This record gives sequence, C-alpha cells and structure tokens, in this order.
Amino acid sequence: MNILPLKVKNLNYVVNGKNILKNINIECNNNNVTIVAGNNGSGKSTFLKILHGLIKTQNNNKIKWGEFYISDIKREQSMVFQTPILLNRTAYENLLYVAKKKNITEKNYVDKIIDKLNIKNISNVNTKYISGGERQKVAIGMSIIGNPKIIFLDEPTSQLDPAYKNDIENIINELSYNKVKIFMTSHDISQIKRIGSEIIFMDNGEIIYHDSVKKFFEEKQCNLISEYINYG
Ligand SMILES: Nc1ncnc2c1ncn2[C@@H]1O[C@H](COP(=O)(O)OP(=O)(O)OP(=O)(O)O)[C@@H](O)[C@H]1O
Ligand SMILES: [Mg+2]
Repeated sequence: MNILPLKVKNLNYVVNGKNILKNINIECNNNNVTIVAGNNGSGKSTFLKILHGLIKTQNNNKIKWGEFYISDIKREQSMVFQTPILLNRTAYENLLYVAKKKNITEKNYVDKIIDKLNIKNISNVNTKYISGGERQKVAIGMSIIGNPKIIFLDEPTSQLDPAYKNDIENIINELSYNKVKIFMTSHDISQIKRIGSEIIFMDNGEIIYHDSVKKFFEEKQCNLISEYINYG
C-alpha cells in the first residue's frame, strides 16, 4: 500500500468567512520526516488536522494519498495533538484502550509501549494528575500503537526536557527508518535541522516554502523566513 505521493489541490478552509487555509497546492514525495513550520496562527495545526481527516473541509477529495482518499486510510494513521486529549483513566488504560480499538491481542503489547516510552513511573496514575510533558509522552505512545503508516505530530516535544526530547527524536528517526511517514510541526530550529528532511513553511494560511530542510537553511530566504530562522 503506497500512501505517497501526497497530493493536495486547491485546498481552502474557511470558517465564519475567515480564510484559514488559502489555496494550498502541494505534492509530497518525501518518505522521511516532513516538518510543517511557521509563526503562531499560520495554519499548521489546522493543516495537519485536515490531512489527518479530523477537520472536514468543503472538499476533502482535493487530498489524495497515493491512490487513496483520507477516508480509505483512516486506520493507517494517527495524530498527536498539540494539547493531547486523554481519557480520564490511567496512562496504562489509555494505551490499552487504543490497543483494543486496533484489535491488538498480543500479550504484553501495552507493557512494551510503556517500556519504549520509559513511562512505567506514571503507568498507573490517572492522566488528570500527570504533567504536561508526561501527557505528551503518553500521547506519543498511543500514536505508535498498531504501526500506522502515517503519524502526525503537532509540536510533540514542546514540553519535554532535553534528554527526553532526544529519546523522542530517536523514536521518530526509528519510525522514519521503518517507512512510517512523519508530518511534524516544530518551532525548534535545531530540532528541525536534526530530524527534518523536507519542510513546508506556512504564513497566514498559505504555503510559502516547500523544499528540503538543507536548502531551507543554506539558501537565502525571504525576510519572514530569515527572521524565523534567526530568532529560533
Ligand atoms: N474553528 C476556527 N474558528 C475560527 N478561527 C480558527 C478556527 N480554527 C483555527 N482558527 C484560526 O486559524 C489560524 C490558524 O490556527 P492554527 O491552530 O492552525 O495555527 P498554528 O500555525 O498551529 O499556530 P501555533 O503555532 O500557535 O500552534 C489561527 O489564527 C486560529 O485562530
Ligand atoms: Mg498549532
């Protein structure tokens, strides 16, 4: 099942007369990590939620994953939200819930995820008591259950300490190595350089740059992007 290239044609998203995404046209063939960057409010989370299928636009058929529409690959992808949404249960139960939903019967599957994410210390704590960073860890654990082909990560390491951020970047690299397509937003310039392969840069609902991360940092960019890079 080939989910690339991702093709988006003339995609607009309008809410209450406000044009949040404007005439998005991209073709993405990159099978490594795609970074979606841009200033606050530029449309990154909205764009990821549309690709994920959570937000339905006026015409979702403008998006194709290989030969497939979003609705065809619903079960092949997952998303970690900028503010993770968890059930009012323990971390373990949250992970178990996703595993059951994906019909995973393998014994100790959830324990393996807990080991991989190094979250044994919070596995039996109700998620309403855990810290922001710990919520991100649980949400990342939930997103990798069942080996999805595409994972959307919306600022997944924004609340993580440096050592744990490094662990998550290693997991992202491993997923990418194992042919999982990653779309990730980040404001962390050094992180973008470390793990990004291509970058989509958004401004005010438009994509103003789409090319390799290498070129993005090597070539002269417009003032907006230069400032973003310099302040990052
Ligand atoms: N349902 C909605 N109704 C009104 N405005 C919305 C709606 N959804 C998104 N927006 C607006 O669209 C813009 C893009 O929002 P989005 O969350 O995609 O930005 P972002 O690039 O992810 O920003 P950040 O870096 O702060 O996470 C924002 O100005 C936001 O307020
Ligand atoms: Mg966002």
